[in-house]
Amino acid sequence: MPVITEIEDLKRIYRRRVPKMFYDYTESGSWTEQTFRENVTDFEKLRLRQRIAVDMDGRSTQSEIIGEKVAMPVALAPVGMTGMQQADGEIKAAKAAAEFGVPYTLSTMSICSIEDVAEHTSKPFWFQLYTLKDEDFMDRLIERARAANCSALVITVDLQILGQRHKDLKNGLSAPPKLTPKSIANMMTKVGWGLEMLQTKRRFFGNIVGHAKGVSDPSSLSSWTAEQFDPSLDWGKIARIKEKWGGKVILKGIMEPEDARMAMQVGADAIVVSNHGGRQLDGALSSVAMLPRVLDEVGSEIEVLMDGGIRSGQDVLKALALGAKGVMLGRAYVYGLGAMGQAGVTTALEVIRKELDTSMALCGRKRVQDLDRSVLYVPEDFGGRWKP
Ligand SMILES: Cc1cc2nc3c(=O)[nH]c(=O)nc-3n(C[C@H](O)[C@H](O)[C@H](O)COP(=O)(O)O)c2cc1C
Repeated sequence: MPVITEIEDLKRIYRRRVPKMFYDYTESGSWTEQTFRENVTDFEKLRLRQRIAVDMDGRSTQSEIIGEKVAMPVALAPVGMTGMQQADGEIKAAKAAAEFGVPYTLSTMSICSIEDVAEHTSKPFWFQLYTLKDEDFMDRLIERARAANCSALVITVDLQILGQRHKDLKNGLSAPPKLTPKSIANMMTKVGWGLEMLQTKRRFFGNIVGHAKGVSDPSSLSSWTAEQFDPSLDWGKIARIKEKWGGKVILKGIMEPEDARMAMQVGADAIVVSNHGGRQLDGALSSVAMLPRVLDEVGSEIEVLMDGGIRSGQDVLKALALGAKGVMLGRAYVYGLGAMGQAGVTTALEVIRKELDTSMALCGRKRVQDLDRSVLYVPEDFGGRWKP
């Protein structure tokens, strides 16, 4: 067994094990990938204050997100096609999250269906909804999430149309993968992945195939998105979805303070400051750069979560210290899943918790609730001297 000490270790194994098409799908941003890169590198601009001679016994990373107790303030973000990274990937990730004590978010674009994940897990998970033109189908998705006892609806508001990732087009990304000489040659080098895939029946978009009408190519993410996602989404529609759901709602994909204020006005329970991991509007500022601005606007009135670029427990600590109530992990857990299945997701979470806990102690804090901006050195121009 390789010794895993950091998320980067999982990424290296992941890259070896998973077909290039799916590795590229994860490890890309839109267009020039500037936002994708800066999501990560902007965390490095924040520095920590080392404190000493503070009693560090009895530390705790436990917290709450939207009223749910969590082992640490981290949730697994919705990630489309997780079941292509590893057979039955969504079920494995959801199990790892449940056992660890953090929320799991199932994507609309998952391979395992809502019902399938509910059947194989014991704790409620969150369901991420893309807003769709076909309102009947969307209503049924909401109903299915309710029937599966999902404890929150995460409405993704930054993908009315799909940002372009060059590699996905060049690789002909699809689920299941289309068999071309190039994809076959690559998959033949991924024996473990292939053998596991052959043993599962879950190889299609489980929430969609057999449920949605008028889909010309249900295996293609890009054609489905172009045909089905609702470009006319507005705040009125978001409010109506919230009403139909009737439970906890998290709006994901908010970057600007005025949008955060609107999210409050429609009654969201929480927002996620997110640019979709740099996969939508390339050229947007990083999530962590925008986080303080959003917090200054609504931080005392609504739970503010963030995602984008989190690759360590220190990144989690920095986001919490800025004032986020919690964070979502995207790629960091996908690396673990692709590398080692359910155990890999657990390992990713353990790595993150250990880094968070140790850094918190060395900053002289015992509980995540004690983290605030005073543990950070924030450069005066953090976030940049930009003018709208
Ligand atoms: C491969 C991949 C697929 C994703 N699919 C979805 C999705 O289906 N729905 C969604 O709301 N966000 C999706 N996202 C965005 C993530 O939920 C999250 O915002 C992002 O990954 C955070 O950035 P990070 O990967 O740097 O942690 C996806 C991200 C990745 C990397």
